[in-house]
Amino acid sequence: MKDLIATSIKYQQGALHILDQHQLPHREQWLVCDSTEVMIAMIKKLQIRGAPLIGIGASVLLAHLAEQGASTASLRTDAERLRAARPTAVNLMNCLDRMLASLDSHGTATLAHCAEQLFNEDVELCNRIATEGAALIEDGANILTHCNTGSLATAGVGTAIGVIGAAKQQGKQLHVWVDETRPLLQGGRLTTWEMDQLDVPHTLVCDNMAALLMAQGKVDMILVGADRIAANGDFANKVGTYSLAVIAHYHQVPFYVVAPYTSVDANCPNGRAIPIEQRNPAEVQGVSGSFGEVNWAPDNTPVYNPAFDVTPAKLISGWILDTGVYRPEQIAAGVLTTL
Ligand code: MRU
Repeated sequence: MKDLIATSIKYQQGALHILDQHQLPHREQWLVCDSTEVMIAMIKKLQIRGAPLIGIGASVLLAHLAEQGASTASLRTDAERLRAARPTAVNLMNCLDRMLASLDSHGTATLAHCAEQLFNEDVELCNRIATEGAALIEDGANILTHCNTGSLATAGVGTAIGVIGAAKQQGKQLHVWVDETRPLLQGGRLTTWEMDQLDVPHTLVCDNMAALLMAQGKVDMILVGADRIAANGDFANKVGTYSLAVIAHYHQVPFYVVAPYTSVDANCPNGRAIPIEQRNPAEVQGVSGSFGEVNWAPDNTPVYNPAFDVTPAKLISGWILDTGVYRPEQIAAGVLTTL
């Protein structure tokens, strides 16, 4: 397979390296991923994360294993195990489906080409999304974003953060409110890091400050990513996205979801049909990362920890995809089933 280089994934000289996102921003450590077991553990620990990137990472690993001589039968089993590692993000399923279709039609030798295509396509999709979305951003805008949707989460410039980066490159003055994104702090740890890299002025806030900011008129628009967009426009994204949409609706702040077509699941009729991953109670009882580990709740405290929530289409102002910006009337007319 050819070398493939992105911000947090590298395939170089026949080895797959992953930037350990669990340790960012204080420690930049690259880890070798050479087996399905390691990739599954990395996905579960969010060392590799972001809906598009986990699909690409899993595909590059399968292609690597094929080059190492893995059989068709074992690659098939590996694909099914990888698929189960993060059930909500449909990009993982879409990428693995494409890899398996390539395996079925042309055998193991074509997997490298298929993984390269998926990687390069994601870079291109991010660029198109950035162009489509940047046109909506007004000079002087205050944008609020949740979780992390940038170059750490994709093979390219990202989705919502890609739009912000492109608007900045166009010379627009921007300020970004970064939701810290409990329980795993992707906003506080990763989006702040990316905003620094992009030289975008930003301010970190706790998730529960968004209502106050909107009431004070300090947010002009909200841009978030997606892990799965259903055919009717409902979408799943990092838990906390739905409450932002409700608050934005109340305060009449435009709320946009930003994603590539690979995050659309045309076979999923609506948000109720999106599977939601439940995660370890320890993530809510405390927090861990490169800063160490702390637990503040008693060990036996009952916890509810869904990784994602679903935002209904009726709360969304626009869907910024690689093929254009879609308005509610177009979504209601079924445009997502024709992409
Ligand atoms: O659990 P994570 O950190 O992988 O969740 C990420 C998100 O919710 C992102 O918004 C989504 O995957 C899109 S990333 C371009």
